[in-house]
Amino acid sequence: MENVLELKDVWKIYDLGKIKLEVLRGVSFYIKKGDFVVVLGPSGSGKSTLLNMMSCLDVPTKGQVFLDGKDVSVFSEDKLAIVRGEKIGFVFQQFNLLPHLTAIQNVVLPTLFRGTSFQEKTERAKEILSSVGLSSRLNHKPSELSGGEKQRVAISRALINNPEIIVADEPTGNVDSKTGAHIMELLENLNKKEGRTVVVVTHDAELEKFSNKIIRIRDGNLIKK
Ligand SMILES: Nc1ncnc2c1ncn2[C@@H]1O[C@H](COP(=O)(O)OP(=O)(O)OP(=O)(O)O)[C@@H](O)[C@H]1O
Ligand SMILES: [Mg+2]
Repeated sequence: MENVLELKDVWKIYDLGKIKLEVLRGVSFYIKKGDFVVVLGPSGSGKSTLLNMMSCLDVPTKGQVFLDGKDVSVFSEDKLAIVRGEKIGFVFQQFNLLPHLTAIQNVVLPTLFRGTSFQEKTERAKEILSSVGLSSRLNHKPSELSGGEKQRVAISRALINNPEIIVADEPTGNVDSKTGAHIMELLENLNKKEGRTVVVVTHDAELEKFSNKIIRIRDGNLIKK
């Protein structure tokens, strides 16, 4: 099967004046369509940095990132933003919901600059929110939602543009273990039933069981077991 994502010798080096901080040191791997990937590593090992490269939120200092076979490390900011919007749904660790918007408005937000009518978008947002069990919370603001509900709104927002890849940074990090299990079940369904590629970053080794591919990172290097 085709590689949806491939990293070739990716380096991220922060220039802090006297010090050059090598956060990623020549990372290479690929992800195939339909994979469920868990990226594991201790705090500070470079997981979020790696995730940002994989989801076109940042570009490497050296090396290449291929998305559907295209080298995105040479793309302009604008082009990166377009590719990101089309292909990748990002679930942030801190949810990043806008506090003054309702659940449904938060979900519709990433579609505002796209073709379909507002009514179609709202219908689709409603469908997605219902599919994650939030049909009775459409008009609630984030402050009126529980942690798990907020995370489900964040996942719904990541799904609204129908991305091939869903990338989640510590999706269970801010919810209790029961809600965390629910969230993982949701991501598992998106992978198994809808065939979407899922990448989850975590420091929780428990989540390994959901994956068909594990990427372990330590001090900016991939490690084998
Ligand atoms: N913009 C930046 N400038 C300088 N250093 C940075 C920058 N962003 C991250 N770092 C450093 O890079 C290292 C890796 O950070 P990263 O956020 O990728 O770690 P992480 O594995 O996601 O950790 P955590 O599990 O705590 O979220 C850290 O030591 C961090 O201090
Ligand atoms: Mg992180």
